[in-house]
Amino acid sequence: MGSIKAIITGVAGYVPDEILTNKDMEKLVETSDEWIQSRTGIKQRHIERDPDKATSDLVVGAINKLVEKTGLDVLEIDMIIVATITGDHTFPDTANIVASKIGAKNAFGYDINAACSGFIFSLVTASKFIETGTYKKILVAGADQMSSILDYEDRTTCILFGDGGGVVLLEPNQEPDGGGIHDAVLRGDGEGAAYLHMKAGGSKKPTTVETVMAREHFVYQEGRVVFKAAIKGMSESISTLLEKNNLDIADIDYLIPHQANKRILYGVADYIGFPREKVLINIENYGNTTAGTIPLCLSDFEGNFKKGDKLIITAFGGGFTWGAVLVEWAY
Ligand code: UT7
Repeated sequence: MGSIKAIITGVAGYVPDEILTNKDMEKLVETSDEWIQSRTGIKQRHIERDPDKATSDLVVGAINKLVEKTGLDVLEIDMIIVATITGDHTFPDTANIVASKIGAKNAFGYDINAACSGFIFSLVTASKFIETGTYKKILVAGADQMSSILDYEDRTTCILFGDGGGVVLLEPNQEPDGGGIHDAVLRGDGEGAAYLHMKAGGSKKPTTVETVMAREHFVYQEGRVVFKAAIKGMSESISTLLEKNNLDIADIDYLIPHQANKRILYGVADYIGFPREKVLINIENYGNTTAGTIPLCLSDFEGNFKKGDKLIITAFGGGFTWGAVLVEWAY
């Protein structure tokens, strides 16, 4: 490990104003508030209704809040990574659109598509540019406008997801023991693509009138398979990460998991013997915002963290992709 570590020096989240409650979902599909809450923990989700708004606007909303909080000079930003599966366009990437919208004239960037694990994959990628001394200020965003790829006639998926995202600022630490992104376990398995994907619109099955009529441009998920794989994947990556770093569960102050389903999060905690009260959960307010859940969670619970706290951030999602990251909070 190099002597420079990447530290998170600020975080902000952003969601659109409009809320879709479970009662609202009852009007769209055959479901109930009771079913949704008991099976997922979700009470509501935020949805972008403005047809002129896209994922870049979620990221810009979060960056504007970050700038307000931290006084960051956007001209000092070297790089922007946007984790998303709902970029403004299939190409080009969203990161450079974001850079232009915020006036970050000296920044370049790119998107990372790792579904719900996108934020942790991006965080680790960015940390390497800091550790090598290549860049000094990197914005790592995770955001998804999931409403743009949801079938509001499919009750098995549309109740789960919402729009939102967040951003962290990564910088080099200035102190020898100043915390940082210490280590990570990142995993993938392309066999998992069968269980969570969009059927058409890619090079394998380009968009045609037929694919649109067959409603193949929406999230497709086999929930039970993903549910089991998520608990196993997150639990195993956390255990491996702890073992690699000679840490016990008692050394960890908080677990920040990707917010897919409250039952999955408690399932992971119980599987590895992690106290449920140290698992940070805000899924009730937002649903699953895919790459957005972790920065949104860090932002909501920022006030709980103190310098030196050890956090494990974990995620599981389409790909399959999954992993866990050990972070020592720096402020
Ligand atoms: O972030 C990316 C990763 N994604 C995830 O981690 C999601 C993983 N999966 C899950 O969270 C859960 O599997 C779901 C929440 C998607 C589904 O919960 P479940 O407990 O696994 O339910 P199920 O799929 O086994 O379905 C149970 C029943 C079925 O009815 P039958 O066949 O037993 O008669 C479904 O048709 O619940 C029915 N159902 C619903 N009922 C009311 C499915 N969706 C709904 C709904 N409202 N929205």
